[in-house]
Amino acid sequence: MDKIAVLDFGGQYAHLIANKIRRLGVYTEIYDGEISAEKLREYKGLILSGGPASVHAEDGLKCDPKIFELGIPVLGICYGHQLVAHTLGGKVENGKVSEYGSAVVDINVKKGVLEGVGDTENAWMSHFDQVIEAPDGFEVLASTSDCPIAATANYERNIYTLQFHPEVTHTPCGMRVLENFAGITGALKEWSIDTYIESITKEIQEKVGDRKVFLLISGGVDSTVAFLLLAKALGQDRVYGLFVDIGFMRLNEKKEVTEALKKVGVTNLHVYDAGEEYFSALEEKYEPEEKRKIIGDLFIDIQAKVSEDLGLNPDEWIIAQGTIYPDTIETGGTKHSDTIKTHHNRVDKMQKLIDEGKVIEPISQLYKDEVRLVGERIGLIDEMVWRHPFPGPGLAVRTLCTEGEDYPEDVSGLEAEMNESISDSGFKVKVLPIKSVGVQGDERTYAHPAVIYGGEIDWDLLNKLSTQLTNQFPKVNRVVLGLRPDSFNSWVVKKSHLSKDRISVIQNADKVVMDYISEAGMHREIWQFPTVLIPVDVNGGGGESIVLRPVCSEEAMTANFYPMDLEKLGELVKRLSTVAGVGGIFYDITNKPPGTIEWE
Ligand code: XMP
Repeated sequence: MDKIAVLDFGGQYAHLIANKIRRLGVYTEIYDGEISAEKLREYKGLILSGGPASVHAEDGLKCDPKIFELGIPVLGICYGHQLVAHTLGGKVENGKVSEYGSAVVDINVKKGVLEGVGDTENAWMSHFDQVIEAPDGFEVLASTSDCPIAATANYERNIYTLQFHPEVTHTPCGMRVLENFAGITGALKEWSIDTYIESITKEIQEKVGDRKVFLLISGGVDSTVAFLLLAKALGQDRVYGLFVDIGFMRLNEKKEVTEALKKVGVTNLHVYDAGEEYFSALEEKYEPEEKRKIIGDLFIDIQAKVSEDLGLNPDEWIIAQGTIYPDTIETGGTKHSDTIKTHHNRVDKMQKLIDEGKVIEPISQLYKDEVRLVGERIGLIDEMVWRHPFPGPGLAVRTLCTEGEDYPEDVSGLEAEMNESISDSGFKVKVLPIKSVGVQGDERTYAHPAVIYGGEIDWDLLNKLSTQLTNQFPKVNRVVLGLRPDSFNSWVVKKSHLSKDRISVIQNADKVVMDYISEAGMHREIWQFPTVLIPVDVNGGGGESIVLRPVCSEEAMTANFYPMDLEKLGELVKRLSTVAGVGGIFYDITNKPPGTIEWE
């Protein structure tokens, strides 16, 4: 099949580029930006992604210069644009003015990738450095008021570069630009969900041979689709599902999921109750990565134990997982991507089994939207296709643990500076004495959320304030809006780990949230809605606090917080206030980046 390679220079947007090109019908794969040109000969086109570094930085990623001699069309985006210029003899300088956000681009030459776009276009920019001299043989196609060289082309060598990001929805002409590039590469549009189903069916049959498959299934769309693909390829009686209840599921989830799975044809289903094992393994564990590792490792031990108990001979059985493409990358799949979170499907023990060829992952090349399309094609019921994603470690990563109050050293100075920064807004700001995981400049952060309160809720303003605070104050990676109580004078933080009592509080709160968003017709608009329990008692009023984290996203690599209708929000807060153990209520107003969707 014709393919385009996306070379990843550390930008979280590399996935978005790959996903958008696939939507045009051309298959894409992601590689480390420094991959050698030799390995890229079979590709029809190369796209150099954005990235956080400067081409002048010592540790800045460079591409193999020989990629420009392969005769394969190249598109450089953002860092990719600067890298092309830098490598081929142009000049890149630290910008005097940085551009972040929407910019007006004057399109001066509508040729190549810019064919058919308007005279001026709004486009998404996110850069500090800029190209100040295009290499010989390159024509400048576009400019903005702050960036005279916003797009270039060398038609003879088929190399195109853009300072702006065509892959994000904030660049309305972006799909047209990507389609122009796909057309220039001559790649045949051979990628479709139907061809995928056909080819993966063959691949499963070849890899599994006459063995049987043991699939770790959670009831989410990913593992359910993986099951159905395996069953389609091998026949239902050769696929065995193992549902492990790790004790951190949603309220009544085990019952609902096992019934739903049976309804869609998962008949060989074994349920293993591991709650006790998990609670005791996680006692006195506070650090998110440590919790994730324990959860993932125990998962594999349990799977091994169950297969032994069931007498499954490893020569006759192979393990399957419903891992999807971004999960293989966010854990640090390409050389330069920082480990933001260790996905439970990618802990070391599982990686070893994968390297030994003992694991099959039928949807590991797909993005979530593609998994859903496969689900629809193979007849999965709507209710399961459109279930919100739920992480393997479940409520364990939504129940924050702490050894006690955990503040940055200079909290009063920091709070004073932050209040100064948003003094015109009518809001006040404080720092929460706990930490959550985030992703900034493509690196994992573990820092403090700020809470803002006291002003009139206006989501546009809050979006601005949230971005402003996380940009200006690196000690803060998230911003939440305080909803209940009315004032936030002091916090009490108790040493807390994962206990049954705490899980019960979060289960009840989560149930109120999930029921309400269905009732109020918000389920489809919201991509995912984590409810998070934080061990913070506001003003000594008793109970812990809940953070609401509804997001809109396309494939989880980037996300925006969901601006909920205020009347509905009022009703939700009212209902949550009746849940035993819930004191404070907050609303997460952080986009991803800088905050991840989950808090751990
Ligand atoms: P973050 O928090 O990194 O999450 O923005 C992105 C998406 O991944 C889900 N997630 C997981 N899913 N196992 C899973 O199956 C995991 O370990 C895991 N960690 C995060 C998260 O719910 C969101 O949809």
